[in-house]
Amino acid sequence: MSSVTKAVITAAGLGTRFLPATKATPKEMLPVVDKPAIQYVVEEAVAAGLDDVLLITSRTKRSVEDHFDRAFELEAELTRKGDTARLDLVRQATDLATVHSVRQREALGLGHAVLCAEQHVGHQPFAVLLGDDLIDPRDPLLPRMIEVQQRYGGSVVALMEVEPAQIRLYGSAAVEPTDTDGVFRVTELVEKPQTAAPSNFAVIGRYVLDPAIFEVLHTTPPGRGGEIQLTDAIRALALRDEHRGGPVHGVVFTGRRYDTGDRADYLRTIVRLACEREDLGPDFRAWLEYFVAKEMRGRSDSGGPDEIS
Ligand code: G1P
Repeated sequence: MSSVTKAVITAAGLGTRFLPATKATPKEMLPVVDKPAIQYVVEEAVAAGLDDVLLITSRTKRSVEDHFDRAFELEAELTRKGDTARLDLVRQATDLATVHSVRQREALGLGHAVLCAEQHVGHQPFAVLLGDDLIDPRDPLLPRMIEVQQRYGGSVVALMEVEPAQIRLYGSAAVEPTDTDGVFRVTELVEKPQTAAPSNFAVIGRYVLDPAIFEVLHTTPPGRGGEIQLTDAIRALALRDEHRGGPVHGVVFTGRRYDTGDRADYLRTIVRLACEREDLGPDFRAWLEYFVAKEMRGRSDSGGPDEIS
């Protein structure tokens, strides 16, 4: 069975949930503490051994492409100043992996975005990572998904149990148990179910796909929201046998996931990751504790270290 070496990272969406910040700045470039969200995703792919990365971008996402390119003027200036620490930070994104990009010319949906990777990927299974979904590196998910793909063949999706009220925001999967703990056989998939959902297992933004997905995507009609949905194409694979791109399995994820395309989750992510940082954490936590205590007292007192920066 061929091994998984390529990662496709989608970063072509319009980011309407985050307007007006995303009017001229891609949502994937919003800083999570001091790194753009998309860099965490590329780092995750590389950590899983996938150092051939294809970004699916669009016309308004030039800064995403630039972020993984050399920045000669900036690098020359930092070299002149002998600022090696910042120089290393600037070069980190470039040195990570071989990053390619292809533009999705029309916003026709996630399925269509993945189809743009067809030529680059060829005939081997590959990983798809959604550029605004962050998985905490302390809870690795992709290596497990690749392992499951190597064992069962076909495709693998990542599943996370969500509150019943939340499932309408995700792809939802009907599943059957397998003999492996935390791994299910996917029997049905519905994109953003508006009425009864197959289950509370939500598909989150990591996939390991059989290349047969491309042939399916070529003929997948527009689905939810009038867009060509990746979920619909994976559903078709779930119904096929192993000679035609099936089956589909789900790996249940119970770790930390951050949806940086959602404003509230974005704020929580930044606070959490900033608290955990060795350099910023101690001061930031001290300020946060003070701030929260003050909020709890109903902003009734004044003074104190609220000007800590
Ligand atoms: C996409 C997928 C959906 C999945 C979700 C995970 O939706 O279409 O199936 O559950 O990502 O984040 P989006 O959030 O891009 O609308």
